[in-house]
Amino acid sequence: METELAQQARAFIMQFYEETEQPNAETRMTAILAEINDTGTYTLTKEELTYGAKLAWRNSNRCIGRLFWERMHVIDARETKTEDDVFMALCHHLSYATNEGKIIPTITVFPEGERVRIWNHQLIRYAGYEKNGRIIGDPASLEFTRYCQSLGWAGAEGDFDLLPFVFSIDENSPVFYPIPDDLVKEVELEHPTVESFKELDLRWYAVPIIADMRLEIGGLSFYAAPFNGWYMGTEIGARNLADDFRYNRLEQVADRLGINRSKESSLWRDEALVELNRAVLHSFQQAGVSIVDHHTAAKQFQQFMKNEEKQNRSVTGDWTWLIPPMSPAQTKIFHQSFHDEMKTPNFFYEDSPYK
Ligand code: ARG
Repeated sequence: METELAQQARAFIMQFYEETEQPNAETRMTAILAEINDTGTYTLTKEELTYGAKLAWRNSNRCIGRLFWERMHVIDARETKTEDDVFMALCHHLSYATNEGKIIPTITVFPEGERVRIWNHQLIRYAGYEKNGRIIGDPASLEFTRYCQSLGWAGAEGDFDLLPFVFSIDENSPVFYPIPDDLVKEVELEHPTVESFKELDLRWYAVPIIADMRLEIGGLSFYAAPFNGWYMGTEIGARNLADDFRYNRLEQVADRLGINRSKESSLWRDEALVELNRAVLHSFQQAGVSIVDHHTAAKQFQQFMKNEEKQNRSVTGDWTWLIPPMSPAQTKIFHQSFHDEMKTPNFFYEDSPYK
């Protein structure tokens, strides 16, 4: 009887050899089984790790950007030992992925298991503070910001303060490292036609790097494996800056643009949303930072589905996440349905260690 780990290893190795058209999967399996027998676990080759990470992206049901799954740059940081090593690897990820604005989808894979834990939700995110009943910054960061403060970090209490990297190794207490300023690209928002829009003082960072999910490949778990793509405009313009439980800026946008808010049925919210989202796309493009609009992303997703079909593979998906938050019915995805089964390799949610 094979152990569960051996079975999961087998499933992954077979898929890897088959999809990459390599012979001798059995030889590799025999070696893995022997290694599991001797040590209780096994080590992925660099090629297996690389392909496994790409499959995890391909299997991410909530991601509309999966057309580019084969193009992810995989950084093997499994040999990382010290806190300074982790810090340097995170800095390297940031600068490599940012690539002066021409964003490269990138993942950095830290040692297997739970030895390294990253406590940030994303490597770059803005702090959130509550001050005499008012919220400054990103409300989504309130709890994590308080936690950073408890570690000794102090923010400037502005709307767009960069939180530090927070991570821990083994049983050691977490440490925080402020992110070197020159590594963080941000875009100040301006509107293509309304000059005074920039007085709203809105901005967003260039690269979304999810840092709190577990990567699973062939039964092995990598708790620290931060990964990024580039933004779809609506993530910033229709959610981060617009949700009433996030930056909640639609009223200010409307007022700045002279959109009359006196009755709901004027659809002032919708109008403000469109203008804010035009500003996001325009500003990123002006700054030379990769970004995709939701119509283009939805078309790319259709191409992804076609490619997968051609390979006789089924595409799983989570419809509620795949549809964009603006004009969803204008995309083909809205009129399709998906099976939301979880294939592996994949990325899994984990409780953040500070909770
Ligand atoms: N929605 C998240 C945010 O606005 C980012 C999630 C990942 N997005 C991406 N385009 N890869 O920060």
